[in-house]
Amino acid sequence: MPQTANSSAERLIDRHGRTVNYVRISVTDRCDFRCVYCMSEDMEFVPRAQLLTLEEIATIARAFTELGVDKIRITGGEPLIRRNVIKLFRDIGELSALRELVLSTNGSQLAHMAMDLKQAGVKRINISLDSLNADKFRRITRVGDLNKVMTGIETALQTGFERIKINAVILKNRNHDEVTGLVQYAIDKGIDISFIEEMPLGMIGDHDRTEVYYSSDEIRSDLEKSYTLIATTESTGGPSKYFRIPGTNTRVGFISPHSHNFCDTCNRVRITCEGRLLLCLGQEHSVDLRHVVRGWPGDMEKLKQTIRDSMLIKPKGHEFDLDARPVILRHMNVTGG
Ligand code: GTP
Ligand code: 5AD
Ligand code: SF4
Repeated sequence: MPQTANSSAERLIDRHGRTVNYVRISVTDRCDFRCVYCMSEDMEFVPRAQLLTLEEIATIARAFTELGVDKIRITGGEPLIRRNVIKLFRDIGELSALRELVLSTNGSQLAHMAMDLKQAGVKRINISLDSLNADKFRRITRVGDLNKVMTGIETALQTGFERIKINAVILKNRNHDEVTGLVQYAIDKGIDISFIEEMPLGMIGDHDRTEVYYSSDEIRSDLEKSYTLIATTESTGGPSKYFRIPGTNTRVGFISPHSHNFCDTCNRVRITCEGRLLLCLGQEHSVDLRHVVRGWPGDMEKLKQTIRDSMLIKPKGHEFDLDARPVILRHMNVTGG
């Protein structure tokens, strides 16, 4: 179980007995990339007026920390393209009950934002990197510039965060042949890496998700041709199952929603950029927090009670089925994963 530093007497416990101490907040559904597993080519984004303001997001974050949440991850879309987002990081970074403020990003803005993020209190950064080949990277992200991301990773390394992790979504015949290269890159940089099985969220139009499925076990056996992987019980409070490579500072994680479901130990909820509190990535159960912060401005108790009540509808788990049409029509950029 992840450790908990929040001394608040309250805990959020769902009806399956799981404690929620981790909130993922998507601050925008927009992105400067169009990854093939995340978005379709022509996406419609939420009109700006419907977005939570940065102040509303900070209020919601505070409510959660007063209810025992001690880890907040800022996600998107690409969170770093939201205007003035650094102010939000600073406000959340000051919440006394928080143990960890962390970020998931595509890395494209890190070269100029890493220092501000560190100063705002960001402890760890997860950066998407699916290929080390510029052409392949472009094909997977549709528009992304590998060079810009590599420069961003270098800047983050020099800035000195506690931990940096690469996230790679592996698709058969697109980038499955890169797993060893990506691990070697992580070893050379002294950072962690997680391999992720693609999840069926939204219609993406690019590929048949069954055909590109490449399991964590296949990746592991590919890696074991070059490296020794030692299983650990280490956890960052996220879904990765970690392995250590002896003699390196690198942990290799596997996020395997299909082959090794991890819903039993789920400790997290999500907030979309419109203020919808989503109780599970793979279900639609949700509560409208924007309605509460706008309808009862300043009423922290009302907000907290709404969050407490939401624990009653947190589902037991997802029901992802690669063979069926996606049941969850929202794309991954709406929740940031
Ligand atoms: P750490 O705090 O470093 O452990 O981060 P994390 O792995 O929780 O977060 P990250 O943003 O790096 O997400 C990595 C992948 O895990 C993404 O593809 C997410 O969609 C996926 N993920 C995170 N939480 C869940 C979950 O509750 N269910 C499922 N199915 N996938 C999840
Ligand atoms: N399945 C699995 N992971 C996804 N991500 C985006 N879309 C999907 C998907 N359909 C990943 C991104 C990023 C993380 C936050 O979520 O690559 O690393
Ligand atoms: Fe953008 Fe991340 Fe989605 Fe790629 S996976 S399009 S970087 S939000």
